[in-house]
Amino acid sequence: MSSLKRDDVPVLAIDGPGGAGKGTVSRLLAAALGWHYLDSGALYRILALAASRRDIELEDEVRVAALAPDLNIRFGTGHDDSVWLDGEEVSAHIRHEDAGTMASVVAALPAVRQALLWRQRAFRQPPGLVADGRDMGTVVFTDAAQKVFLTASAEERADRRYKQLIAKGIDVNIGDLLADINARDARDSNRAVAPLRPADDATVIDTTRLSIAQVVSQVLALVTGEN
Ligand code: C5P
Repeated sequence: MSSLKRDDVPVLAIDGPGGAGKGTVSRLLAAALGWHYLDSGALYRILALAASRRDIELEDEVRVAALAPDLNIRFGTGHDDSVWLDGEEVSAHIRHEDAGTMASVVAALPAVRQALLWRQRAFRQPPGLVADGRDMGTVVFTDAAQKVFLTASAEERADRRYKQLIAKGIDVNIGDLLADINARDARDSNRAVAPLRPADDATVIDTTRLSIAQVVSQVLALVTGEN
């Protein structure tokens, strides 16, 4: 058993807009390092789903925040990226485009962000944590040893999402996807609390012309100090 105190457990913070490849890259990094993985966006998505199922208005800050402490959430580990809410597997529900939009509405409410803080910090367990989100380096893990901000042009992100959905047999319009991405970016970047921005000490990587493997090896080089 490790005697590391929680604050001594190393954190690799990976922030950036939706579609920049954070999820895929973060999971691969966690596997390569043998560290835990926090998908913080999933927490916002689950909370929005739970609120809508209880007919709570997504803008109702007090009621949405009050839901957060009691949510019974379970994440799969390792290669298992499934998510359960109250014993029901909700992975497909929360990965839907609409769930992302709903998440960005509840994520703009300060009391909601506050209510989810301890849940996120509880993922900091030995031997280390790869934390994926929008404010991992700026708010949740300000003492992270390494902070990375992954970005890509909105067009490239829409194109990646389009290919993912088409591969799943879901028919979508790329213009609609681009409009959704721009609207979500605007909401995430302009909100009053924890707006989407790189931490001052973050390394910004533009993934527009990089493969996933290239991004993973650039970040690993940062972590192991081999750059
Ligand atoms: O990363 P993902 O697309 O799953 O996040 C969904 C939404 O949750 C984001 O658009 C953002 O509004 C919100 N979010 C956030 N802070 C995080 C992670 C996600 O505000 N750390």
